[in-house]
Amino acid sequence: MTTRKPVFIEKIMPVKLLNEQVYYEHGGNPFKGLHRWYSRKPLSFSRASVLGSLLPEGVTIEEFEYLLGLNRRVAGMQDKTTKLYKTPPSPDRIKKVQELCEQQWGTKTPVVLDAFAGGGSIPFEAARYGLKVLASDLNPVAVVTMKAAIEYPLKFGPDLQQDIDKWVKWVGDEAEKRLAEFFPSLPGEKVQNYLWAHTVVCPNCESTVPLSPNWWLYKRPEKQNLNKWCAVRPIPNPEQKRVDFELVKGKKGKGNTIVCENGEEYNPDDFSTIGRGVGKCLCCENVIESSYIDEKLLNKDYIHEMYAIAYQVNSGGLKFRLPEKLDFEAFSAAVLKLDGYANSLLIPSEGFPEGEDTRCYNRGVRSWDQMFNSRQLLTLVVYVEILNDVKAKLQIEYEPEKVEAIITYLALVFDRCVDRNCRLSIWHTARASVERASTQHTLNLTWNYPEISGSAELWKSSADAFASDYESLCLLFGTKPGSSGIPGIEAFEPKSIQIDSASADSLIHIPDQSVFAIVTDPPYYATIQYAELSDFFYVWQKRTLGDIFPDLFWSDLTDKDREAVANPSRFRNMGMSPEELANQDYEAKMALAFAEYHRVLRDDGVMTVQFNHKDSGAWDVLAKSLIDAGFEITASWSVSTENPQNLHQAQKNSVSSTVLLVCRKRDPNSGQAWWDDLRPQVAHLVEQRAPEFEANDIDGIDLYLSAFGPALNVFSRHSPILDTSGNEVRPEQAFSEARKAVANYRFRKLAQTDTLGFDPLTTWYILAWDAFRAREFPFDEARQLALAVGGFNVSDLAKTHKLLDSTSGICKLLTPDQRFKKRAFSTNPEDFTLTSLIDGLHALIAIYLEEQSIDPVRRFLKTTGLLSNDLFMRAWEVTLRVIPHIGDERKRMPEEKALADLWLAMDEIKAKVRYEQPELDLGDVQQSLF
Ligand SMILES: C[S@@+](CC[C@H](N)C(=O)[O-])C[C@H]1O[C@@H](n2cnc3c(N)ncnc32)[C@H](O)[C@@H]1O
Repeated sequence: MTTRKPVFIEKIMPVKLLNEQVYYEHGGNPFKGLHRWYSRKPLSFSRASVLGSLLPEGVTIEEFEYLLGLNRRVAGMQDKTTKLYKTPPSPDRIKKVQELCEQQWGTKTPVVLDAFAGGGSIPFEAARYGLKVLASDLNPVAVVTMKAAIEYPLKFGPDLQQDIDKWVKWVGDEAEKRLAEFFPSLPGEKVQNYLWAHTVVCPNCESTVPLSPNWWLYKRPEKQNLNKWCAVRPIPNPEQKRVDFELVKGKKGKGNTIVCENGEEYNPDDFSTIGRGVGKCLCCENVIESSYIDEKLLNKDYIHEMYAIAYQVNSGGLKFRLPEKLDFEAFSAAVLKLDGYANSLLIPSEGFPEGEDTRCYNRGVRSWDQMFNSRQLLTLVVYVEILNDVKAKLQIEYEPEKVEAIITYLALVFDRCVDRNCRLSIWHTARASVERASTQHTLNLTWNYPEISGSAELWKSSADAFASDYESLCLLFGTKPGSSGIPGIEAFEPKSIQIDSASADSLIHIPDQSVFAIVTDPPYYATIQYAELSDFFYVWQKRTLGDIFPDLFWSDLTDKDREAVANPSRFRNMGMSPEELANQDYEAKMALAFAEYHRVLRDDGVMTVQFNHKDSGAWDVLAKSLIDAGFEITASWSVSTENPQNLHQAQKNSVSSTVLLVCRKRDPNSGQAWWDDLRPQVAHLVEQRAPEFEANDIDGIDLYLSAFGPALNVFSRHSPILDTSGNEVRPEQAFSEARKAVANYRFRKLAQTDTLGFDPLTTWYILAWDAFRAREFPFDEARQLALAVGGFNVSDLAKTHKLLDSTSGICKLLTPDQRFKKRAFSTNPEDFTLTSLIDGLHALIAIYLEEQSIDPVRRFLKTTGLLSNDLFMRAWEVTLRVIPHIGDERKRMPEEKALADLWLAMDEIKAKVRYEQPELDLGDVQQSLF
């Protein structure tokens, strides 16, 4: 077996730092904004995964932070201001990283591979340090996105922005010329948007009903512009069997009403014609069943009705009016013009598959061109024509590689136009602007949708949003105008970044054992149907970029057969549960991909797999498939992707974490082992590593998740692992052993003794607060913790003991008051029985909160004998230690507040319960002083 040198990530990771850094990335950035991709991973997290997998274990955590991009600690204090995702590593950091790589791997620029690269967060970060990068994805849209985000900025540097701008403008000018007649404006105005509603004919009175959940045009919720609210009011016209409209403007009234100039109040929500799929005819008040509406849509028995227009006067703000004759005529002209393209290859007439998300299909969409109304489609088709004209011009002026880059960015602007100008786009009433269709992980038609003027506004505004993104991307690499590549690297070799379209189960372009580190973020079961979603862009990229990248765009639609996701729609009508078959298919594909990773990885190489932690079952399946592919797992870390604000308020802990599993090739001679031999080793190693994790700020649920690393480390060194009957043991047994070990360790630490003798329920309650620091957390976690504590039935937590409520996989710890109302215990000292210590604590909290006085609490403690119960006092002490103390008085947890208040007020408790009052939160106090 090759000797392998341990790497940093096998020893430790700055989990807390990453939790904070990941949070900074919740907003947008030019890397993410360049093109829509689904489930992008944060850059800071990807950067740490790459560096952690390459750097030697001897690097200190402070040095690691520095190499990531933070300023050096001052007097032990960590830099809290640098935002890693927008901070390119400085030349000295890059140099240092490369030197350390040479020490570890014998080369300054080891090869890093991600074959599920998506939008490219991992390769992007590897490229920022000048490493050799192999990035691939099955999906052509992802490949194009990566080329634009990584390859071209490094190849051409910021100067290319000027060329992009020049041709962006050229396309815009052409669009204006070629499409002006279809988007007229009245004198003095410049039309920007048209608002449309799908319609249905009322089955009762046969009126045409425009469908919209409300009739708002502009409703700014903040203080600004409250006098400029605007909407249309539908006016039933039963004689003509239609609805007319009038414009309503005014200032904000009560609630959601507009007060018009004549004092009349109007609420545009009151005239909704569709809600939850059920319609309402305003002419006859008839309720229109959703099945009827669906059938009409399915049979294309509907029209699009234009009901408002947004326009600009000079450079003033947006105004609204009703559509006029010239607007309708222009639309009719566009429909006629589009007829001329009937059989043109420019129209994306590829079939729309039924797929996993059937919503569009069930509403009659059968080909991709049907995602647009006729004029939206005409606009896009004319843009494609213009882009093809641009190609011819570019070829005269530039070398082929630059042509490829410029046209790719133009195609990305075009995709933004598609995204903002379709039947799926959304009118954002607070901003009076258009929201992209792809903001969601679904494709869904909107009842009322905006169209953007295709002559002047659509291209221009899509390009404006994009305008400086290219240059900003170069800045993320630290590349200055007049240069290219990474600053500080003498001879940057653009060929060191290779971006391919390939299936992860067949990386034929990569030789055996040639990769030093694999850092990868595979798809996860059915969470996202990448291929289905991205067809929305693929069918257009085929038309804008098909000739530039013939290898990417040869097929009708993206490849669903090789895609490693669980897609039940591929397994319908096969006589077995489609979900089950899809899961099996996904697991088989992942097994093949991991086997391929095993082939290309050097014997001493590292593989770090990122995945979203949802439930403990996920860990088990992933760990098992890694072990089966010949890997052993040497460490695991988890980074929370939850908004820390929620955690701070102690309301929720959704444990929405991304986990890193660090793997190595297992010694092929390791053979099988017995679980009975390994089990004590798991517990021992976990307890041994726990203080080390804590010393590095890993606590709460992160401590449990991090402990899975050492557990898997012991478990995965051999395969198979057998129990005494010779049956194979699954990794989940190692996880439960690890959980038990952490629970024991934490409890001992909290109680500051080995032999406390708390009952299991109280132990569970204390450990739950200690782990989640929040009232709300996933039920599966509660269950796992209960199994680790043992001694009671998990289902009794809710049913019998009424300690929690659980719905849709989330559980909530009930307050003492809620438990009392559910009769979990009695507050009458005569009737009270101490079945568990937590009931005693909750009973006195409930009494105190109800009576707002300490006398009844005193009586209760005396009569029940709890005052002289030492164990009870220890429970008081530990509970106070684990329930989060919130500085803001109004938001304090009632349990913590009551126990602390009583402790302060009652000397007899003070004498028995050790407690240090947390410091006052001066923030709030100071605010009231100034
Ligand atoms: C979780 S995403 C990666 C996201 C990426 N880390 C990012 O930050 O953008 C998983 C990716 O795997 C890709 N994929 C699915 N099946 C694949 C296969 N068989 N081969 C290669 N890539 C595949 C999907 O297209 C998707 O982009």
